[in-house]
Amino acid sequence: MSFSDIGGKIRPGVIYDYFSISEISGEVFSIYGDYTGVLPNYLLAEDVDTLVYEVEGDVAGFIQVYFDREELKETGELHADILSAAVAPRHQGQRVGSAMFKHMLQHLKKKSAGADRADVQLTVAHTNTRAMAFFRRMGFELDGRELGRYSEGQRALVMSRTLLED
Ligand SMILES: CC(C)(COP(=O)(O)OP(=O)(O)OC[C@H]1O[C@@H](n2cnc3c(N)ncnc32)[C@H](O)[C@@H]1OP(=O)(O)O)[C@@H](O)C(=O)NCCC(=O)NCCS
Repeated sequence: MSFSDIGGKIRPGVIYDYFSISEISGEVFSIYGDYTGVLPNYLLAEDVDTLVYEVEGDVAGFIQVYFDREELKETGELHADILSAAVAPRHQGQRVGSAMFKHMLQHLKKKSAGADRADVQLTVAHTNTRAMAFFRRMGFELDGRELGRYSEGQRALVMSRTLLED
């Protein structure tokens, strides 16, 4: 568990965060589709790590990442997917997202120590230029790939970065 510089606390997500994750998903992702069920359900998935950012008992945001543990053991490669990253509107723009990303990237870098290859990717809607700018600051670049479309029709652009260097 660690504390960021803006007064909140980053900790692993637990099942009691289900409702908060569902509610924030509704607030920030409804323009792309209905994620109010799938994202909180990831709390139950063994290979998904959820981190939440808590401010005075209130969940301000969360980030979720998946990677295949067996693949890492068998091939020495780690390929991670950030499944979601969301900050409640009332907490946006206060560095909560940056703190969660830095924490998650550190976690993944530790997991990839000694790996031959290690990278992380995410998707972003082609209309979400503000989030793209944010992800660029976190070291991600558009890599030319697309993974279909969100339910509401936006193209899902892939951004990625290596985990093997800073
Ligand atoms: C993108 C997001 C996770 C960033 O977290 P945050 O705590 O707001 O970000 P920080 O305070 O650390 O950094 C600020 C930057 O975040 C981005 N940002 C802030 N509000 C945003 C919003 N409503 N939508 C998209 N990006 C936003 C901007 O790049 C901003 O920089 P700017 O003020 O110079 O434009 C958060 O704003 C969010 O959940 N947005 C809505 C959902 C979303 O777009 N998720 C990402 C796609 S999966």
